[in-house]
Amino acid sequence: MTDSSRSSSHYQGLIHRYKDRLPVSESTPVITLNEGDTPLIKLNNIPRELGKNVEIYVKYEGLNPTGSFKDRGMTMAVSKAAEEGAKAIVCASTGNTSAAAAAYAARAGMTAFVLIPEGKIPMGKLAQAIAHGAVVLQIKGNFDDGMRLVKEVAGEAPVAIVNSINPYRLQGQKTGAFEIVEALGRAPDYHCIPVGNAGNISGYWIGYSEACGHNTASCTLCNGQCPYLDNPITSTRPVMVGYQADGAAPFLRGEPVIEPETLATAIRIGNPQSWDLAKAAVEESGGWFDEVSDEELLATQALLARKEGVFCEPASAVSLCGALRDIKSGLIPEGSLIACTLTGHGLKDPDIAIRGQEDVRTVKADLESVKAAILEHI
Ligand code: F0G
Repeated sequence: MTDSSRSSSHYQGLIHRYKDRLPVSESTPVITLNEGDTPLIKLNNIPRELGKNVEIYVKYEGLNPTGSFKDRGMTMAVSKAAEEGAKAIVCASTGNTSAAAAAYAARAGMTAFVLIPEGKIPMGKLAQAIAHGAVVLQIKGNFDDGMRLVKEVAGEAPVAIVNSINPYRLQGQKTGAFEIVEALGRAPDYHCIPVGNAGNISGYWIGYSEACGHNTASCTLCNGQCPYLDNPITSTRPVMVGYQADGAAPFLRGEPVIEPETLATAIRIGNPQSWDLAKAAVEESGGWFDEVSDEELLATQALLARKEGVFCEPASAVSLCGALRDIKSGLIPEGSLIACTLTGHGLKDPDIAIRGQEDVRTVKADLESVKAAILEHI
């Protein structure tokens, strides 16, 4: 079958989909795993039980190729690195960035070097980095130490940084906002999102701003060519609400946290690199930052899995956790349309999901035993 005979509707990833809104040209080698185009799922059971008149949608980013939203930024960062002739990429990571970097580097024929905090990333994410052939460097420090080292080493060795300080990462991540606006036919009233290194909230704000024709810093990268500037697809932007784990909440403390600690290891970050962009997004949109405890975020992860059939990782549940609290208190008023980003898949960290639960029973392999076990629950 030739290329031209293949269906033109075959989805080929977000650079292909949004090439006129991204800083790419005909000569950019597109490194893609067909990321993006993730489901926007309307929650049914949780809002009903809440007894509040709200519409809540979750953007299930766990269904990206490596199981997190990082693929959106990584397709851009690695494609641009390839365009610039890079042979190797480097990142610090709490796990998901390293998984994405490893996979896209494999696709591009590059070497990925990933710095991860020793003993603090779940096995699923570590397995991905190893499986895709990344050089994994466990450091005796946390993510913030890794970030500092990555910046230092990039000045000493021929490696391209693919953390979200690389502006192409946010360009890829802004497409999450485009997809939400297209799916809803408008921007949501509120967008709730977990905040760690603060790149994603910044990327979404760029995306929502472009979608309604606001000129943002990102448009410079597009050389003012972004078609949304003249033809906006929405007239409003959402209120941006960023939630953090209370043991790793620098935006709530107003300064970096030296020893961040949370079971939501993906956002165990004390010194976010996109501090100014994230703060501006929240301020310009009239939003706020808030924090949730580990106990609360784990309870929300379980609630979402059990009531809606959606399995996300602990850090992802932070968005819905905060949103539900603010809906209950009335801070997010009834009648609102709310989007929550679920940043990563629950399978990344299965150990934490089954922690403390003794739901697995062993029964004898005979009909009587199986029947008795079933009838107990009916
Ligand atoms: N949720 C998940 C599942 C993440 O992996 C991350 C960040 C975030 C939320 C926070 O997003 O950093 O853009 O504010 N993970 C990075 C990593 C730091 O290395 O995988 P952010």
